This record gives sequence, structure tokens and C-alpha cells, in this order.
Amino acid sequence: MKGVVAQQAALRAWADRSGWSAVALHPASHIAVDERGALEQLHPLRCIRIGGSGHFSADTLQSVGEPLAAVTIELPLRRAGFRLPEWSDLVDVSDWCHEHGVPLHLDGARLWEAQPFYGRPLAEIAGLADSVYVSFYKGLGGLGGCALAGDADFLTATAPWVTRLGGELFATYPYVLSALQGMDDRLPHMADYRDRAVALAHHLEGIPGVIVEQPQVNGFRIHLASDAEELAARHRDLADETRTWLFRFTDSPVAGYGMAEIQIGGTSAEITDQEIRTAVERLVAP
Ligand SMILES: Cc1ncc(COP(=O)(O)O)c(C=O)c1O
Repeated sequence: MKGVVAQQAALRAWADRSGWSAVALHPASHIAVDERGALEQLHPLRCIRIGGSGHFSADTLQSVGEPLAAVTIELPLRRAGFRLPEWSDLVDVSDWCHEHGVPLHLDGARLWEAQPFYGRPLAEIAGLADSVYVSFYKGLGGLGGCALAGDADFLTATAPWVTRLGGELFATYPYVLSALQGMDDRLPHMADYRDRAVALAHHLEGIPGVIVEQPQVNGFRIHLASDAEELAARHRDLADETRTWLFRFTDSPVAGYGMAEIQIGGTSAEITDQEIRTAVERLVAP
């Protein structure tokens, strides 16, 4: 099933258990930004958007002041530039949830990629939450799909919602097999991908008109001093010439800039840091 389905099923199951309807999440989370409001349109649930440029804290949760069906935290928070909270802040959020009897759900679409930042076993990170979704097709490079984890009662409660949301595919084995292959081939290299991202970000520094964010994981953002549409047009021309597609430009939060995400993964070895720098230089000053 898709992550969009898995997370709706998870949050609906938690809400059905408690009878509460409010779900706390970050305004930049995938559920809040990228799912066309599915959680609120398809369920009697209400999103309480908390957190600013970074992740929300246990103190912010405390200030919500109303019963919560669940708290969701996205690790890393992609639309905020693939940001992660510090480990102690994450533990505080988990402790707050447990002390207040609120299930903590982890959007771990890129949890594999987050692990090197914490330097702790994946099981310890996932163990902070009551339910966890992981994607098969981001860092693992699988065909698509995801896994949802939690205790047996929780998973039983999600099953009817997965059916109702049309999440059951006739055959899932191609997705599972490709994810297993990713666990063999790519999972052992997550720290290498993060290290390459850090080195690349460093290599891109100092280009006039380019702002480079510092990566915590394999992904980070760059901002170029031009309009996103103009950058996209220049990029199409460059891709025509080099036969290499590198970036997708969108509006940047920095006024007057366009933004692109860079994610290092299993196929990134095919291009060098210098080739990427040359492309960025040509895009910002054609
Ligand atoms: C953070 C995050 N959560 C959830 C999803 C949804 O996953 P899917 O594409 O499998 O529905 C995505 C997909 O990009 C994502 O980035």
C-alpha cells in the first residue's frame, strides 16, 4: 500500500481507540502539505498544526491544551529541508506522549536515511513511537509501497481502514522483494549517502547567488538567486545539452530565489561533485 493510505489507517485506528479527533502534526509535514487534506476530508479528524521552522517540542505539545488522538512526527521533515530534531528533543516528545497516554506515530518515510544522524540502532529510534511507517522506495530504492509497524491490536484495527481506503493490492511481492533488495544493497550505505551529501554541500559553497543548507541526512536544499520558472527553463536547456536531469525547481522561502532538493542515493555515484557544481554555476549565471 502507499504511505498515504498507511498513515491515514494508522491515525484513524488511534483515533477510533480513544474517541478523540485531534491529531498534532507539523504544518510542513507530508500529511499536512502533500495529501490534498485527505486526513481531514476523509475522516472525522482535525489536524492541529504545531511547530515553526523546525520540529515541535514537548513544551509545544503541552501548550495544545486539548485531548489528542495521536501525535505525528516526520523524520526527517522533508518540506523543512530534511530536518531532524536532536535526540534529546525526540525523547522528550516520546516521553510526553507516553506520560499523557497519547500514541506517537512516526512518519518514517526516510527513517533509514535518518539513522546515521542519531548513530543509534533503527530499533531504538522506532521504539520511541507506538506506530511507525517506513517507505520502500525512497532510500531503499524499491518499486513503491511501504510497511506499517505497531503492536498486534493496533495493526488489527488498521486492517479495515486499509481495505476501505483501497490500500490492498492483489500482489505485493514485487514491492516487498524490491524493498528487501534495497535493505541488502542500500541500507548499509545510508551513512555513506549522508557523508556524500555533507561533502557535496561543502563543495557547492561559495558560488555567488547560491545558498546551500547544511545536511543532517542524505538530502538538503539549495537556493539559487533567480525565479523558479526561469531556473526550470534553464535546467531543461542544460539537461538537453548534457542528457542529465538533476533538479526540480520550486519557489524558495528566500524571496527572489528558486529552490531545489538534492538527495544522495544508490545512483548518485554516476555524477561527481564537480559536475554538480558546474551545473549549479551555469544555472545561476547562464
Ligand atoms: C514524508 C512522507 N510521508 C509520506 C509519504 C507518502 O508515501 P507514498 O508515496 O508511499 O504514499 C511521502 C512520499 O513522498 C513522504 O515523503
